[in-house]
Amino acid sequence: MAHYFTNDENLKSEIKKVDTVIHSISYYFYTDNGVFSKNKLDVGTELLLNTFKYTYPQEKTFLDIGCGCGAIGIYASLLGFAVDMSDVNKRAIHLSKIALKEQKLNSNVFLSDAYENIDKKYDYIVSNPPIRVGKEKLYEIIMNAKDHLKENGELWVVVRKKQGADSLVKDMKEVYKSVEVVLRKKGYYIIMAK
Ligand SMILES: C[S@@+](CC[C@H](N)C(=O)[O-])C[C@H]1O[C@@H](n2cnc3c(N)ncnc32)[C@H](O)[C@@H]1O
Repeated sequence: MAHYFTNDENLKSEIKKVDTVIHSISYYFYTDNGVFSKNKLDVGTELLLNTFKYTYPQEKTFLDIGCGCGAIGIYASLLGFAVDMSDVNKRAIHLSKIALKEQKLNSNVFLSDAYENIDKKYDYIVSNPPIRVGKEKLYEIIMNAKDHLKENGELWVVVRKKQGADSLVKDMKEVYKSVEVVLRKKGYYIIMAK
């Protein structure tokens, strides 16, 4: 079975538009076969975006790592952040680029395995991280975010309780100065680390 994080170019394309509203901000993104959360905004992503709190975004930098179709990065672009979006899935990168262009947003979208092609530091790193890739890659994305955050920068992630959120929080406390579970809802944890 093809996973959403692999690049299967033979997979039939069936692009769908997903209209979304978060905090009265309307936007859309495109989904397709072979990408995460094929037909809709993922429940975890929706909770993350509805919970994410930020100070006025003027010139603040934002990374959506594992951007998929762009649900997080497009929203952040509309808020006015300077946004970078990265993923390993070429189809997802393509879909994110189309949606950004059509909505007249010029955020950067690029291929990167974890932080391989990322050398900047950000005010915010916000992610619905890949779980099915395994603990090693998940931890690479979550723990190494620390090296890509500015002083006082924040990492926001959504993880399901049943996918190990409690032990993740415990392990994050070994790496980050502060870790807070901002929301526990519908089996999802929204975790913020500084
Ligand atoms: C849970 S999905 C979230 C997608 C999107 N951000 C959303 O909220 O709908 C995780 C994403 O991480 C990507 N991913 C998997 N392995 C990765 C890696 N090593 N580096 C970066 N992204 C990866 C997957 O392709 C997928 O798009």
